[in-house]
Amino acid sequence: MVTINLRTKSPKAKISRLPPTLDIDASATVESLVASISEVTKLGTERLRLTLIDNTRLLPGTLLEKYDLQDNSIVYVKDLGLQVSWSTVFYIEYAGPIFIHLFFYNFQSIVYGKTFEHSTIQATVLDLILLHYIKREFETMFVHRFSNASMPALYIARNSAHYWLLSGFLLAYFVYAPGACSDLPGFVYYGLVALWVYAEFSNFVTHLILSSLRPKGTTQRKIPYGYGFSLVSCPNYFFESLAWLAVVLLSRSWSAALFWLVSTATMYKWALKKHSKYKHEFAGKYPKARKAIFPYIA
Ligand SMILES: NC(=O)c1ccc[n+]([C@@H]2O[C@H](COP(=O)([O-])OP(=O)(O)OC[C@H]3O[C@@H](n4cnc5c(N)ncnc54)[C@H](OP(=O)(O)O)[C@@H]3O)[C@@H](O)[C@H]2O)c1
Repeated sequence: MVTINLRTKSPKAKISRLPPTLDIDASATVESLVASISEVTKLGTERLRLTLIDNTRLLPGTLLEKYDLQDNSIVYVKDLGLQVSWSTVFYIEYAGPIFIHLFFYNFQSIVYGKTFEHSTIQATVLDLILLHYIKREFETMFVHRFSNASMPALYIARNSAHYWLLSGFLLAYFVYAPGACSDLPGFVYYGLVALWVYAEFSNFVTHLILSSLRPKGTTQRKIPYGYGFSLVSCPNYFFESLAWLAVVLLSRSWSAALFWLVSTATMYKWALKKHSKYKHEFAGKYPKARKAIFPYIA
């Protein structure tokens, strides 16, 4: 047994019931230490984050021996605040655009002050956007295997804003407006719908591949191979961007273009990070020719 000191990093982040010291079995797991702190502080285990003086995180799934805790070692405890599961956040994020698009399309007199017949393109864009977000809900439920169990509840608002405002209200308002989205020649129309189907299907396949890398209930990470992964680290982002590009070209709306730009820039930034994490994590083994998101480019 060793006696460790428990601290919070700043007085602002004080945890009222946190004891100054705790006796622990240094050969136990990080989970058991978190559970002991949870018991005395009455805060759920998912809210607690433990770090050492050099900011090393005590990771769930590891033994405390790894961190060489001794008498008087300091462990910093952080209360991450109320947590919600990642799945919950995704369900809420994606449900927004589904309801917003249905509302703007079906309640014209409330939104635009008159009734009118939608163009074929407007009807198609509605279908594609509904299918896109229903697919995302389905994937959240049945495909993705997230490594993080939860995130702060406050993130719901931040994460949802991107989808609800940009891909929801702004896109729907301008795309379903009277006179917007005039018809296109048949071959262009069918070509763009086919591009969208190809991109969404490919995005789905890459999600299946990512999910197959991780046995259920684990947080394992492996190098993905196959469909798109031979060219880039994040083909799922590339195909997502391609699907939205098809919507931009179909609608020819600046609001769709704005959403596409913002989401592609976001995915580009994330892809660069994931790409360098792969190279670092699988040093020497990671395929050198792969780019981050855009084949042969970046
Ligand atoms: N339109 C937009 O603005 C926008 C922005 C972002 C995403 N999206 C869409 O949402 C989808 C999901 O996004 P995401 O950022 O969650 O994608 P992601 O980070 O690539 O991950 C998708 C899933 O695969 C897991 N995973 C990733 N790499 C893995 C590996 N090497 N080994 C094992 N499992 C791995 C992830 O687990 P972890 O929980 O461990 O990460 C996660 O559960 C995207 O593909 C895209 O279609 C859209």
